[in-house]
Amino acid sequence: MSASAAQSAADVARELRPRLGIASPRLALVLGSGLGALADEIERPVRIPFGEIPGFKVAQVAGHKGALVSGRLDGVEVVALAGRVHMYEGWSAQDAAFPIRVVHALGARTLFVSNAAGAMNPRFQPGDLMAIADHINLMWTNPLIGPLTEGDPRFPDMSEPYDRELRAELHTAALDAGIPLADGVYVGLMGPTYETPAEVRMLQRLGADSVGMSTVPEVIVARALGMRVAGVSFITNAASGSTGAPLSHAEVLEVTERAGGQFRTLVRRWISRLA
Ligand code: HPA
Repeated sequence: MSASAAQSAADVARELRPRLGIASPRLALVLGSGLGALADEIERPVRIPFGEIPGFKVAQVAGHKGALVSGRLDGVEVVALAGRVHMYEGWSAQDAAFPIRVVHALGARTLFVSNAAGAMNPRFQPGDLMAIADHINLMWTNPLIGPLTEGDPRFPDMSEPYDRELRAELHTAALDAGIPLADGVYVGLMGPTYETPAEVRMLQRLGADSVGMSTVPEVIVARALGMRVAGVSFITNAASGSTGAPLSHAEVLEVTERAGGQFRTLVRRWISRLA
């Protein structure tokens, strides 16, 4: 995807806008593995499957619903990406981040990203929530590689990938709701394998608190577009290899189902503070 990415995102947005049922979304939400249930709480929702949207790839993995859902949530016009595509399915970083260009073209200037993630910080337990303070890109690629997309800076600043004020609001929302919320660094790997014990030790030494296979390409594109970003990792499991039992995607989804209520409460409290 090159110089045409900005143009095609604008074209896709023009095609979608009359279908959305809202004037212009202020906030875009990316809902990670097992976290798509938040989209079911959107009022007067319009649901458009990714397969109907030009340029959107369709996710194959269980727990990734794969639809754009627009409507109002706690007084804010939102567009949710319920499910996302991952690079481990063979898509490029540009493909993984294209929906961000589209929600930006639709008018969203604030992006909330979420992911199901493994704990690198040994203090984290399954079900814990972590506000993403920063990330480490270990995906061995970058969605901005290639000819410059019109409007993107060539060398985007990444000194504050996750907006300080939006993160402070997440903490205030968490306190209000009585939900514990840590801060930490997310590391994005390509996957699809979970980590080996040696990789876990490496990532811990690098300063990672949570690990997953997404989010980084989306945040890079959002920052290049000047969007403000907030993010939450939903901790679904201890570091692979640390419990003596093998790690499975079923376990990841089971935890999001069991403890996803706190995640939804936190995000909705945060949104009502933005309203
Ligand atoms: N590692 C990588 N990705 C993940 C994990 C993990 O432990 N848990 C959920 N997504």
